Amino acid sequence: MTTYKVRRGRLITGEITVPGDKSISHRAMMFAGLSDGDSSVSGFLPSEDCLATLNAMRSLGVRIEPDAESDTGFGVTRYRIHGCHRTLKAPDGPIDCGNSGTTMRLMSGILASQAFESELQGDPSLSKRPMNRIVTPLAKMGGHVETSTEGGCPPLRIHGKPLSPITYELPVASAQVKSAVLLAGLFAEGRTTVIQPVVTRDHTERMLRYFKVHLVTEGTSISIDGGQRIEARDFQVPGDISSAAFWLVAAAAQNGSHLQIPGVGLNPSRTGILAVLTRMGATIGVSQIAAEDDEGEPIGDLEIKGHGLQGTEIGGDEIPNIIDELPILAVAGALAEGTTVIRDAEELKVKETDRIHAVVTNLQAMGAEVEETADGMIIEGGKPLRGATVTSFGDHRIAMAFAIAGLFADGETIIENAACVNTSYPGFESSLNHAMNTADQPS
Ligand code: S3P
Repeated sequence: MTTYKVRRGRLITGEITVPGDKSISHRAMMFAGLSDGDSSVSGFLPSEDCLATLNAMRSLGVRIEPDAESDTGFGVTRYRIHGCHRTLKAPDGPIDCGNSGTTMRLMSGILASQAFESELQGDPSLSKRPMNRIVTPLAKMGGHVETSTEGGCPPLRIHGKPLSPITYELPVASAQVKSAVLLAGLFAEGRTTVIQPVVTRDHTERMLRYFKVHLVTEGTSISIDGGQRIEARDFQVPGDISSAAFWLVAAAAQNGSHLQIPGVGLNPSRTGILAVLTRMGATIGVSQIAAEDDEGEPIGDLEIKGHGLQGTEIGGDEIPNIIDELPILAVAGALAEGTTVIRDAEELKVKETDRIHAVVTNLQAMGAEVEETADGMIIEGGKPLRGATVTSFGDHRIAMAFAIAGLFADGETIIENAACVNTSYPGFESSLNHAMNTADQPS
């Protein structure tokens, strides 16, 4: 079992680079794989989740060639993808999605209309996650996806069928569900429209447009006409702001810290973390190096100066934007002066683990004053954290959030079952060791 042993650090300074964006890497592999020619994808995140998508596309007949020279030490980051012209082939056996909800839900949208049967499996965590949220709209389109139990969990058996378009109001603010329906719509005859209750990350829409697929966005609704071709194009994946979030919090929580993180994705549907940390007291500079337009994703360099943190309220429409950052923001709340309230975040309960329960359990083990609520938590910040042995609950973001908490605790913090970090952030441990070794120790 991989464990992290973390001790107190003091100042987070210098530069940290983060690997490619997870959400964008999945989509780049899928859309380039479906396209009408050859594309190269650079900056790909070589994490277990994204490799599950790569292997899924390979098992469906897409030829994908690694460029060995692009190996950063944590895996290959550039691939040449030979698009299949929207014609996938039947896989030889079940497709393993590992821990990755994005792989399973988006691939379901793609596979629902194919002229073959397929099965999508997951690890024990993914096998407990709700899939009815995609099964229901796909069934309305004429798709036939069987789940294992009445609760609508994986494995998914997908009986490919011709699909009809629908107009679908999402019952939950989920980019994965939105994307599954839009991708199914791409293979249906006619116009499919998805209406979101709140704006969610729009990487699918941006990347489909980049690959020359026409979509219409009006307010929170997005429409796509079926039957469109996907043009092959080279694509650069930006750094993952959700991975940067761990270092942003570590820097923000210490007066005098000064950290640069270059080449981070700055899609406005993902930058809520910057707004929350700014209201908690950090100074954040953003220099955007790629313009935001219909041609892909905005990228920029981040610079953060820490002044210590103040508590804040987090809830409402900003939740989907920062859904993956809430575990590390809860740690920020424990390190802040005053009260931090997280509400409207029930979705945390159906992530890789119940993240409300996991965060509250671990914060309490480290001596923080925190109360679990039905849709979030209330943290009375500013109590000194003490080192403790905590578990990741098999969830990468819990492991990393508590590694950062350990940098601020008295004594040693042990994070058990930390191998799951590789699902999204290969190289995290190396940056963590660097942060511990280069941190100024308190005199
Ligand atoms: C993702 C969307 C989010 C997020 C997940 C990745 C995506 O899930 O939590 O890590 O790539 O579309 P939901 O859309 O289900 O909230």
